[in-house]
Amino acid sequence: MFNMLIMGPPGAGKGTQAQAIAKRLSLKHLASGDVVRAEVGGKTVAGQKAKAYMEAGKLVPDDLVTSMVGSHIKTACESGNGVVLDGYPRTVAQARSLTELLERDGLKMHAVVNLKVPGEALVDRLVNRLTCPKCNWVYHKRNNPPKVEGKCDKDGAALASRPDDNETVIRERLRVYHDQTEPVLAYYRERSVLQEFDGSGAIDEVFECVVRYLENLKGA
Ligand code: AP5
Ligand code: MG
Repeated sequence: MFNMLIMGPPGAGKGTQAQAIAKRLSLKHLASGDVVRAEVGGKTVAGQKAKAYMEAGKLVPDDLVTSMVGSHIKTACESGNGVVLDGYPRTVAQARSLTELLERDGLKMHAVVNLKVPGEALVDRLVNRLTCPKCNWVYHKRNNPPKVEGKCDKDGAALASRPDDNETVIRERLRVYHDQTEPVLAYYRERSVLQEFDGSGAIDEVFECVVRYLENLKGA
């Protein structure tokens, strides 16, 4: 069992790297943003409450997001080799809830990977991102294009831009990240599981550095 978190600001490459890490290490990738978007798309009670926060680039309130994501985390931890969590926790209160949730089942977080990328690069990455609405695979118009323009390599679905990937909302997401999510790094630094990486290189370069670290950690 190996559980890890991938952290970083919006556009840092959490989803991109988590998908590749999950494949290499046979882990389950669980992205809180995908869980929230599915609830919003399904017009569930929780999704309807979360919608306005997401569209404005704000965080969904802690209790609401924990109620949406908690059961998925438990299932993912129980059902295989472990999980790559992406996008949760995003506040110190969420980090505490996660620690409690794992400890209740005798589980723990083995690694926390933080991807560091400068602000302007993040805006470019997000305004040029394309996402598959069916499988959530992530592309970039220039840096990581699909093989066939506008179509997902995995399932052929038509790719789309996320509604929160416009510049005004992106800048708000970055502000919220610095304000509410950066303190989570200190939470994990104090617990000696945080490892920081330069996330500004090419996708494959970042992946090789991160996966080398994780494979060493797993083997140790
Ligand atoms: P979420 O979906 O988690 O969005 P985010 O944190 O803003 O992060 P992104 O998914 O935008 O970026 P990413 O780091 O995954 O980058 P990606 O790999 O796609 O959350 C969305 C919303 O949901 C929140 O705003 C909030 O409302 C709500 N929410 C979710 N979780 C919550 C929680 N725990 N609490 C409260 N609310 C919550 O890459 C971006 C682009 O860059 C892609 O085009 C990619 O191809 C490209 N790229 C990636 N790496 C590189 C590279 N190395 N070089 C060049 N291009 C690259
Ligand atoms: Mg993502």
